[in-house]
Amino acid sequence: MGAIEREDQRAAAGDHALCATDDVPPGEARRVLVGARLLAIFNLDGTFYVTDDTCTHGFASLAEGFLTEDGTVECAWHGGAFDIRTGAAVTAPCQIPLVTHAVSVRDGMVWVVLTDKQAAEG
Ligand code: FES
Repeated sequence: MGAIEREDQRAAAGDHALCATDDVPPGEARRVLVGARLLAIFNLDGTFYVTDDTCTHGFASLAEGFLTEDGTVECAWHGGAFDIRTGAAVTAPCQIPLVTHAVSVRDGMVWVVLTDKQAAEG
């Protein structure tokens, strides 16, 4: 799974265009940088989900993990897993939920909405 670097964007609150929908085929993921915040974009059978990219157990990129058909991503480092729809940690050693982000698709692009708090962190 590859990465998309969008360093031109600042992590301000509000909408951010992440990539074209064609950039993330079904069953795959991409990492994207928005300001200082690393996000993972997942395409689960045509529906897009965006979470923070960094595993809450360590510093692995979840976009480099393994996306399953049931909507979980397995971390490549220690095999922990998260539900990409809710952020819930579903397999040990992951225990801390993953931050998920509001997503929309329009004009052939995947957009994420960062809240004020998320923008301040990123
Ligand atoms: S860094 Fe992801 S499970 Fe350990």
